Amino acid sequence: MSRLAGQTVLISGASSGIGAACAELLAPLEVRLILLARRTAKLQLVADRCVAAGTDLDNLLLVEWDVRQPFGLEHLPVGWRSIDILINNAGLSRGLTKLPAGEVADWEEMIDTNIKGLLYLTRAITPGMIERGRGHVVNLGSMAGRQTYPAGNVYCATKAAVRAISEGLKIDLLGTPVRVTNIDPGLVETEFSAVRFHGDWEKADRVYEGLTPLTGMDVAETILFALTRPAHVNISDILLMPTAQSTATLVDRQTRK
Ligand SMILES: NC(=O)c1ccc[n+]([C@@H]2O[C@H](COP(=O)([O-])OP(=O)(O)OC[C@H]3O[C@@H](n4cnc5c(N)ncnc54)[C@H](OP(=O)(O)O)[C@@H]3O)[C@@H](O)[C@H]2O)c1
Repeated sequence: MSRLAGQTVLISGASSGIGAACAELLAPLEVRLILLARRTAKLQLVADRCVAAGTDLDNLLLVEWDVRQPFGLEHLPVGWRSIDILINNAGLSRGLTKLPAGEVADWEEMIDTNIKGLLYLTRAITPGMIERGRGHVVNLGSMAGRQTYPAGNVYCATKAAVRAISEGLKIDLLGTPVRVTNIDPGLVETEFSAVRFHGDWEKADRVYEGLTPLTGMDVAETILFALTRPAHVNISDILLMPTAQSTATLVDRQTRK
């Protein structure tokens, strides 16, 4: 029996990339999975893969939700509201533009999704964790929250905010058994860059050209490690980089054959 058996896990942004990989990795571990995102067709594909990996259909709930809206537990069916693990993964970058030329709509989308969306879910779900005396919140920050890179301005700011929120949450949960993990990956090859460049996949592919980036599964496996530590162990902070990346801007583009 897995250490996580019987626990209910909500993954935001489960339709793609890191969130989808978390779902697939957790699927055989006898957990109840709530997969949340806006694109239901994509969510369904992830759900099919979870079922193939061992999740019982009764243990799978797909929720079409835009995290930019304030969230309340009433949006989940009764019976799915006692969440043990919250993976705050939904997030995005929009544009790579110097700040004086920045698009206000892009800024708002990043701030509303990456900061406010994460806060809404956390606010709705953590009181129940405290009440039930168990819980774990995992926040997807980014190496971009530690080092600002050229034209990264607002995206980097949102991830620095995630880092501050993770620290603040850990402080505010002291005296409870609820754990908080902040994970900051470097380059991960997902739909992330295609979203950043508004669907320009050629431009997106150039981000990973010549280097071996992390995969969504690399990040998911690291999250699973944090989730499966004994109850008295809190992995607070993780910086996870591809071997071919040293800093935000220093990458070795000779590693991918
Ligand atoms: N890829 C990287 O290099 C990298 C590095 C460090 C950190 N991260 C962080 O990792 C997280 C996951 O990114 P990824 O790389 O897996 O990118 P991805 O493949 O583009 O996945 C992003 C996920 O977030 C969801 N999402 C975006 N806006 C949403 C909204 N308003 N409401 C609900 N869901 C929303 C998307 O679902 P829908 O579009 O279906 O709603 C999708 O499932 C993000 O927080 C990102 O900032 C990524």
